Amino acid sequence: MGFQFELIGFPIKHSISPWIHEQFFKRSKLQGTYIKNEIDLEADFAERIMNMKAKEIDGFNITVPYKQKIIPFLDELDVIAQKMGAVNTVVNRNGIWKGYNTDGRGYLRSLESKFSNFGHDKSIRILILGAGGAARGIFCAFTEERFMHIDIANRTMASAEDIAMLATDDTTTKILSLEEAEQSINQYDLIIQTTSVGMKPRTDQSIISLEGLNKPVIVSDIVYQPLKTNFLMQAEAACAQIHFGHTMLLYQAQLAFEIWTGQRVSTENMDEELQLILEGR
Ligand code: ATR
Repeated sequence: MGFQFELIGFPIKHSISPWIHEQFFKRSKLQGTYIKNEIDLEADFAERIMNMKAKEIDGFNITVPYKQKIIPFLDELDVIAQKMGAVNTVVNRNGIWKGYNTDGRGYLRSLESKFSNFGHDKSIRILILGAGGAARGIFCAFTEERFMHIDIANRTMASAEDIAMLATDDTTTKILSLEEAEQSINQYDLIIQTTSVGMKPRTDQSIISLEGLNKPVIVSDIVYQPLKTNFLMQAEAACAQIHFGHTMLLYQAQLAFEIWTGQRVSTENMDEELQLILEGR
């Protein structure tokens, strides 16, 4: 029968994850299914989760709005998921459900796959723009890897302070306003845009202006609708190396598949295919 994986969340009709995992099954030669299990009513959540326990499925992804709500149903939590207070991947190991969060580590992998030297120098200066769930995941993954300088800029500075509290001893973090970030933009080697600003249909927007940028740094945007956001266009105009957001989807899925099956499946050529699918939307 093979592996039984599911995706739960709402809305998930347009999720790209089933396509990604279908490719992973083909590439790994493992048998299995990955199906969408939409839970539109929060009131049904507990019952639907108990049904999944009874079915003994092997693993599942969990997305908005249930990433926190799943935690009381789990037996164990991975350290990053615990820090984040949010789970996107659950594995069933002999009836024990363990929760992970692969978003931040997946994001790191996407950078490593694009920039071969990335990660060797832990003293690079990193700026995270935004302080929502995505920023939290990325911050935790970077601190786990002992990057030394990670600043956070956000419209609401208190949310950035909350994330900074998750830092380990190896990391120093400064909190900035968006205006301050704009002014000190040339202090950074890697700039990561984690908010929804610039997403379709408001594609003319950008969280900050990169007009003052004059260094060939890496600029990354986790928005992938459109692939090349206004923010990335400004980065390109400043001769920065740009990194597209959709690759985070690919690598968080690769890591989930690895947690479930023990196999790290190659993502070769999937980036381009995924781009075509997303551009067709
Ligand atoms: P997610 O969990 O997907 O990261 P989120 O928790 O809604 O999404 O986080 C959204 C982030 O985008 C926050 O940092 C938010 O800033 P605030 O904390 O000040 O709300 C930021 N954001 C969203 N819209 C914004 C806008 N128009 N200008 C500036 N920041 C914005």
